[in-house]
Amino acid sequence: MSEIKDRRKILVTGSAGFIGFHLSKILVEEGYQVVGLDNLNNYYDPQLKIDRLLELGIPSKKVSEYNKLIRSGKFENFGFIKLDLEDRIRLPALFSQEKFYKVVNLAAQAGVRYSIENPTAYVDSNLVGFANLLECCRNFQVKHLIYASSSSVYGQNEKIPFSTEDNVDHPISLYAATKKSNELMAFTYSHLYGFKTTGLRFFTVYGPWGRPDMAMFLFTDAILNDRPIKVFNNGNLERDFTYIDDIVQGIYQIIQKADNSQGHSLYNIGNSKPVKLMEFIEEIEHQLGITAKKNMLPMQKGDVNRTWADVGKLKKDYEYSPSTPISKGVQKFVEWYKSYYAL
Ligand SMILES: NC(=O)c1ccc[n+]([C@@H]2O[C@H](COP(=O)([O-])OP(=O)(O)OC[C@H]3O[C@@H](n4cnc5c(N)ncnc54)[C@H](O)[C@@H]3O)[C@@H](O)[C@H]2O)c1
Repeated sequence: MSEIKDRRKILVTGSAGFIGFHLSKILVEEGYQVVGLDNLNNYYDPQLKIDRLLELGIPSKKVSEYNKLIRSGKFENFGFIKLDLEDRIRLPALFSQEKFYKVVNLAAQAGVRYSIENPTAYVDSNLVGFANLLECCRNFQVKHLIYASSSSVYGQNEKIPFSTEDNVDHPISLYAATKKSNELMAFTYSHLYGFKTTGLRFFTVYGPWGRPDMAMFLFTDAILNDRPIKVFNNGNLERDFTYIDDIVQGIYQIIQKADNSQGHSLYNIGNSKPVKLMEFIEEIEHQLGITAKKNMLPMQKGDVNRTWADVGKLKKDYEYSPSTPISKGVQKFVEWYKSYYAL
C-alpha cells in the first residue's frame, strides 16, 4: 500500500543557487512545505549562496555548518540542508525522513565554458548525482520529478526557433552532453517505474541574484570597475535571454497543476525573443550610464552562435507566458547589483 503523503511537500535541489533560490522563495510564499538542498560548492563565491539563503531566513554560518536540516527563522515552511547529490548515504536518508511528494532538481554543475577545463565536476554532479536522485525518487515514491536541462543541448542546430522535436544528438560541450543524458535517464525511469518526469530546457536566465559566471553579471561588474568586457565572436552572437521571474512562474505553473499524467515530457522554457549580444551590451551601458571598454575576441570552444526557444508546447500545456522585456530585466538586475554591493 502506498503511503499517504503531504501533496505540498517539495524538495528543491540547488536551492542556494540562482534559480533554486528564486523558486524556493515563491514556493514558501505560496505555502508549500519546502526543503532546500545544496552542496554550497565554490564554483562561484559561496557567500552569494549564503546570502541567498539568508533571504530565505536561514541564518549565516560557515559553509561546513549547514550539514543538518536547519529551519528558517522567517518562513516556518522552509528548511535547508547542505548535501551532495553524490552522497549515496545521506541523500536516501533525507528522502526517507522527509517523504517528498515532488522534487525539483536544479542542482548541477552549470556553465558551458568551465566544462572544457573541469569535466569531472560535470560527471560527478550531473551524471552520478542525477542518477542518485532518480534512484531516490523511485525508492521513496516521489510522484513527480521536474529537472533542469539546457538550451545547450541544441548545439549548432540551424533550424530556428529550437523545438523539442528537433534532433539534439550532437552536443558540442560536455555540459550539454550531461544535460542530454539527464533527459534520457529521466525517460527511462519514468518508463520503468511509472513516476512522472518533466525536463525543462532553460534559455539564458538572468536577473537579480544572478550567477557571477554569466554575461549579465560579468559585464556589469567589469564596466563598473573600469575593466574591458570580453565580447566573443566579435559580438556576433544571439541569446534568448529569459528573465528569472518568467522562468520561476513557468516552473511554478508546472508544480501547481494537479494532473495525473505519467511518463516523461520535455519543454523549452525561454523568452522566445532572441537578443543580439551588442544590443544586450547597449542596454547594460544605458542602465549604468557608462560606455563599456570592449575586448573583441574570437568564438569560444563549446559556445553556440544563437539560441531561440519555441515555447509553444509550454504555453499550450501550462499557460506559460513570459512577459519581461530585456530593458526591464536589465534594469532590475542593475538595481539589485548596486544595492547588493552597496554602490
Ligand atoms: N542559469 C541559466 O541560464 C541556465 C541555463 C540552462 C540550464 N540551467 C540549469 O539550471 C539549473 C540551475 O542553474 P543556476 O543558474 O541556478 O545555477 P547555480 O550554479 O546558481 O545553481 C546550482 C546550485 O547547485 C549546487 N550544486 C551543484 N552541484 C551540486 C551537487 N552535486 N549536489 C548538491 N548541490 C549541487 C550549487 O552549489 C549551486 O548553488 C542547473 O541545472 C543549470 O545547469 C541554467
